Formats: sequence, C-alpha cells, structure tokens
Amino acid sequence: MRVFITGGAGFIGSHLADHYIAQNDSVTILDNLTTGSMENVAHLAGKITTIDGDIRNAELVEKLTQDADLVIHMAAAVGVQLILESPLDSISTNIAGSEAVLSAAAKFNKRIIIASTSEIYGKNPKQPLSEVDDRVVGAPQNIRWTYSDAKAIEEARATALHVKQKLPVTTVRLFNTVGPRQTGRYGMVVPRFVQAALKNEPITVYGDGTQSRVFCHVLDAVQAITTLAATDSAIGDVFNVGGTGEVSIKELAEKVIAITGSHSQITYTPYTDAYPAGFEDIQRRVPDISKIKKAIDWSPSKNLEAIIKDISGI
Ligand SMILES: NC(=O)c1ccc[n+]([C@@H]2O[C@H](COP(=O)([O-])OP(=O)(O)OC[C@H]3O[C@@H](n4cnc5c(N)ncnc54)[C@H](O)[C@@H]3O)[C@@H](O)[C@H]2O)c1
Repeated sequence: MRVFITGGAGFIGSHLADHYIAQNDSVTILDNLTTGSMENVAHLAGKITTIDGDIRNAELVEKLTQDADLVIHMAAAVGVQLILESPLDSISTNIAGSEAVLSAAAKFNKRIIIASTSEIYGKNPKQPLSEVDDRVVGAPQNIRWTYSDAKAIEEARATALHVKQKLPVTTVRLFNTVGPRQTGRYGMVVPRFVQAALKNEPITVYGDGTQSRVFCHVLDAVQAITTLAATDSAIGDVFNVGGTGEVSIKELAEKVIAITGSHSQITYTPYTDAYPAGFEDIQRRVPDISKIKKAIDWSPSKNLEAIIKDISGI
C-alpha cells in the first residue's frame, strides 16, 4: 500500500510512518518542518520519501494524493502556545491547508484519515466527553479558540464531502497524546516536565495544578488510527482517541519527579504570567472512548507510569 502522511516529520506522523514501514508499505511524507524535524524520521532514511513542502501548495498535495492509496492528514499548527505566537500562519495552515488536503482526497476519491482534537469540545463541562457532545468555545477574539474552530471547519468539510461526494473519510479526535519525539518547545506539558526533571531544574506548573488531563501513549494512538484506516465501517464517522486514568497536573509533576528520581522542585506560575491576557485553561478533559472500543475493540495499553518511563528513557 502507498501511504501519504502530511505532517509526517512531526511527533505522531513520524510514529505512523514507522508503523507503515514496519508493514512493508511505501510511505511519502510532506512536512514544512515548522514544528516537525527530519530527526524524527532520520532512522527511516532510504525507506521513505520525504518532501519539504507546505500543505497549502494545492498542486503538490494533489500530485502526492493521486499517487497514494491512503492519506493520513496530520499536518497542522499544533499547541496553544504556537497558535498564540503565530496566529495568522496557524489559522491559514489549519483552515486553508486542511481544505487543500481534503479537496485533493475528494478529487481522486482516496481513503483519508483526518486528525481532529479534543479542543473541539472547548470548555464543555460535561465529562467524559463523547463524540456527540456540544462544542462550547469562547469569543473568536480569544485566539486560542481558532485551533478548535479550524478543526471544527475541517471536520464539517470532511462530513460534507462524505455526504455529497462519498469521500471515504474518518475523523479521529485525539486527546492529549504523548510519547517519545514530542517536543516541549511549545508548552506540551509532559515533555516539558520530563525535560526539567531530567536536568533537576524546577518544574513549573501553570495555575494551581488542580486542572487534570488524561494522557494516551502515541503508540496506542497509532494503533487506533491505523486500525480505523483499515476498517471500512469507520468511513464517514468520528472517533475519540484518548487514554484512561485522569491525573491532575500537580500529581503529574509529582509522578514525573518520583519516576525519574529527580531533585526538581515544583513551582507555580499564574496563568497571567504564562499566557497572554484573557487566556482560558480547561479544568478537565476526559475522553469517552466507548465508541472506538465497540467499533474496533481498541483501548489504550500503556498507563501513565509506562508513558513517563518511555519518554524519560528509563
Ligand atoms: N499531540 C496531541 O496531543 C494532539 C492532540 C490533538 C490533536 N492532535 C493533532 O494531531 C496532529 C499531529 O500533531 P502532533 O502532536 O504530531 O504535532 P506536530 O507539531 O509534531 O506535528 C505537526 C506536523 O505538521 C507540520 N506542519 C505544520 N504546518 C504545516 C504546513 N503548513 N505544511 C506542511 N506541514 C506542516 C509540522 O512541521 C509538524 O511536523 C495534528 O493535526 C494535531 O492537531 C495532536
């Protein structure tokens, strides 16, 4: 099978490339290396085709899509910090870029998986969150919501293309996905904490640390994505993909310190110092993964301890 992965030099995309290469599929990746890095796929040199380019280049995306059997669309401007730092380019990548990829898949009627996000649910207080739950987001002037809005438009476009043109698309709503190769540069909490712990530097918790998350190992997420891609009954549908075991950010910091044997101290920084004025954090975000479990019998295999060990290389 010929697999085309957008954002294939990124964190999740590079693990997807590993998966398909291990299956003897042929893999082409397109990445503009904004947050991704060729280092993430250096071990696949000679086995994959890498193209340094932009998903907004419609002509290039069409050519690569035409040559593929399966498109996995992972490229996006990801992470609240990056969105806040580069709002215009992020909005453009996430709206115009995903339009170019979906349009190409529709033109050649190719099987496609698109990566959406738990940010879709915004600040909906209902927990756990299931696929039919409402989006509750803030004002557009609060730039963090543009990530959620752009992914919502992408999901809506995918649904419309499926209904109107029978596009074989599946939407995957990823919750906090973590593991080796994820960069801490854009504020992703687990790599940031692990990097600080390994250097015995202070671990900075934003807010009071009572906010909680559920983390999923990237290899579990890859298993979910690739199984959905191979499942015809998943076409036209949307699935949450996330971990189990809710943890507060304070407990996460304590676990990272304990598992790495670090001498780091935990420090607390108010949101007002960590983010621009008006930033809203989400207190809880717990995935309901019963739908994907029923559809493909998937559930995550690695708990938080295994995840932290894997990331810290212990
Ligand atoms: N990691 C998570 O917890 C998480 C959660 C929810 C959703 N997602 C989604 O999963 C996907 C992959 O995320 P990730 O965590 O691997 O992040 P990542 O930043 O490592 O991967 C994104 C990749 O896209 C590339 N890219 C960005 N803009 C591009 C453009 N205009 N043209 C070509 N390439 C471009 C980047 O260089 C990077 O390699 C994204 O769509 C993201 O929204 C991730």
